[in-house]
Amino acid sequence: MWLNNILETIGNTPLIRINKITRNLPCTVLAKVEYFNPGNSIKDRMALKMLEVAELEGKIKPGGTIIEGTSGNTGMGLALAACVKGYKCIFTTTDKQSKEKADILKAVGAEVIVCPTNVEPEDPRSYYSVSKRLATEVPNSWYVNQYDNLANREAHYEQTGPEIWEQTEGKVTHLVVATGTGGTIIGTGKYLKEKNPNIKVWAIDSYGSLLKKYFETGELDQKEVYPYISEGFGEDFVPENYDMKYIDKFEKVTDKDGAIMARRIAKEEGLFCGYSAGSVLQGLMQLKDELKKDDVVVVIFHDHGSRYVGKVYNDQWMMERGFLEVKTFKDLISGRGSQKLITVSPDQTVLEAIELMKKYDIENIPVMDNGNNTGAISESGLFNKILNNPDIKTQAIALVMEKPYPEVAFDTPVERLSSQINRENGAVLSRDESGGYHIVTKYDIIQSLSK
Ligand SMILES: Cc1ncc(COP(=O)(O)O)c(C=O)c1O
Repeated sequence: MWLNNILETIGNTPLIRINKITRNLPCTVLAKVEYFNPGNSIKDRMALKMLEVAELEGKIKPGGTIIEGTSGNTGMGLALAACVKGYKCIFTTTDKQSKEKADILKAVGAEVIVCPTNVEPEDPRSYYSVSKRLATEVPNSWYVNQYDNLANREAHYEQTGPEIWEQTEGKVTHLVVATGTGGTIIGTGKYLKEKNPNIKVWAIDSYGSLLKKYFETGELDQKEVYPYISEGFGEDFVPENYDMKYIDKFEKVTDKDGAIMARRIAKEEGLFCGYSAGSVLQGLMQLKDELKKDDVVVVIFHDHGSRYVGKVYNDQWMMERGFLEVKTFKDLISGRGSQKLITVSPDQTVLEAIELMKKYDIENIPVMDNGNNTGAISESGLFNKILNNPDIKTQAIALVMEKPYPEVAFDTPVERLSSQINRENGAVLSRDESGGYHIVTKYDIIQSLSK
């Protein structure tokens, strides 16, 4: 049996139990893993639904152009539908979003316009404003507006909700969703609450979003709004898709905690998910005291990790934001206690250096001349030289030594040390606060990376 086109693969995503991270929770936690959709996110569902409704309502005609402000996932769903149905796509996105997301959209034929993040939605440069303006300028175009387009939540009412109900055989007790436009949480939550009003619906919000405060107080507090790093959820206004009566609680998750949890989900559960999946599971862990033994919690994992390889899954990016501890030269030598650096002077013999290598089981010895780093003796270098001329053993080190090991700052991150250590340099040196030299070798780096 075959399918007629890629759009027929949307939906019916698996519900997969989380086993390790939630080990200490009393209940069952199941993840609706939405990256199994063809565009690798849940947004395929609502993108196709919104397009089908627009076609029915005559808002888009054959050969027309789809215009939307999208951080990537909705764009991907729309672009796939556009390929199959013969439309053009123009998307506006923000410079906060992963570059990979825009590149993927271009790969499936969309035109992508990147707009600044840190401007008000009403600002003519914002991605909302640019997409709205284009919709009035481009002939035969349809402005999707996923925020206020109620076909968004309708898709989840028709698909995501029923799938979860059936997959849990009606046992689901909690739905936990990182929320942005509100489409996922409201559509799915409404369906599930109609099936069983006791089901609790928890929304996960980002710091820098006004949704939680609005839910709790009814106030649209602009003081809650500031730039944040998490992607795909949290808002600086309340989209029309919201109907807060279907939400029981809001919980905020920090950018750091969400990112770290996303990495844990990949490593510990083998689910390579996006940033908001980390945030949603982190949010659930923060609320764990509210869960009981027989609870069946469904969390939504919105998208795939491949869109975040330059971000959450990049150590450098994580370190620059203080999300990952940076290991430095100082950390690598911290376990050595008062052990002194083994050195030789240029007028000692090669044999003396070999004796030291044997005695201390080391391969690299700096050559110090009156406290100055003037050369190096390495096991591999000596080996070649002795093979060619066995008499070298009795000669002075000054005659056979290699160039000195590079010196680096005491707080140089391990990542940068690795790039200095190569075939020619088996080690790097650094001085501590009191001027004493320390050495880090290839072996130390390998040890630290394998921990
Ligand atoms: C990765 C990711 N997570 C969460 C959300 C939030 O979903 P919704 O807009 O349905 O509230 C989105 C929506 O853009 C998303 O792309």
